[in-house]
Amino acid sequence: MAIVCKSAAEIEKMRQSGHIVRQVLDHLRTLVAPGMTTMDLERAAEKKMKELGAKPAFKGYFDYPCVLCTSINDEIVHGIPSEKRTLKSGDIVSIDCGVVLDGYYGDSAITVAVGDDVAPELRKLLDVTEASLYKGIQQVLIGNAVGDVGAAVQEYVEANGFSVVREFVGHGIGTKLHEEPQVPNYGSRGHGTRLREGMVIAIEPMVNFGKPETRVLDDKWTAVTADGSFSAHFEHCVAVTKNGPMVLTQ
Ligand code: CO
Repeated sequence: MAIVCKSAAEIEKMRQSGHIVRQVLDHLRTLVAPGMTTMDLERAAEKKMKELGAKPAFKGYFDYPCVLCTSINDEIVHGIPSEKRTLKSGDIVSIDCGVVLDGYYGDSAITVAVGDDVAPELRKLLDVTEASLYKGIQQVLIGNAVGDVGAAVQEYVEANGFSVVREFVGHGIGTKLHEEPQVPNYGSRGHGTRLREGMVIAIEPMVNFGKPETRVLDDKWTAVTADGSFSAHFEHCVAVTKNGPMVLTQ
């Protein structure tokens, strides 16, 4: 499958689905508190999506069972919401949300500190991961390479003493959740696919406090750090335009 470039009208539709994702995540962020379960977040997300008139993008995708991915502490991505796990003060939780509206997808993730006891070095992990996403976004320029995005993320993360996950990557997005090209959070400047006007990519740095290696739990979904260190994840969908990067999920 080749890379699909979007028209201005299509990008406008993706901005609308992106805006719904943003509203869901903004709502969920206000709910996160010690004592709640990730299934509480799942139910709130499902309700909000319905109110806003969008369909969930993840539920049923390769048989994934939920509308959110909720990944706590050493979980990197693809944690499955559950009734069993209660959030406690000092935890960090990544909330990844995707919707489809009128055939066009939006996908975004945030990582939120739970309660007031989150350690300063973990606050730094969250801040560095979010800032690395914006370093990547700044490289979304016509004629730049996908490697410029990855290199910008990786350099910033490693300069701050953390590591980037290699086994999971960002992606093109449009009328499918995952389109070409793949968008790694590492790379070499000038290498990889060239960005052209109308391309839309989801950039999603996954940053580990310790070593970059990962493994997947027996549930076949939840990716965790091999060394048990905590991990953060932020994601935006970004269009390549003549006027520079256009973030669609805000
Ligand atoms: Co994504």
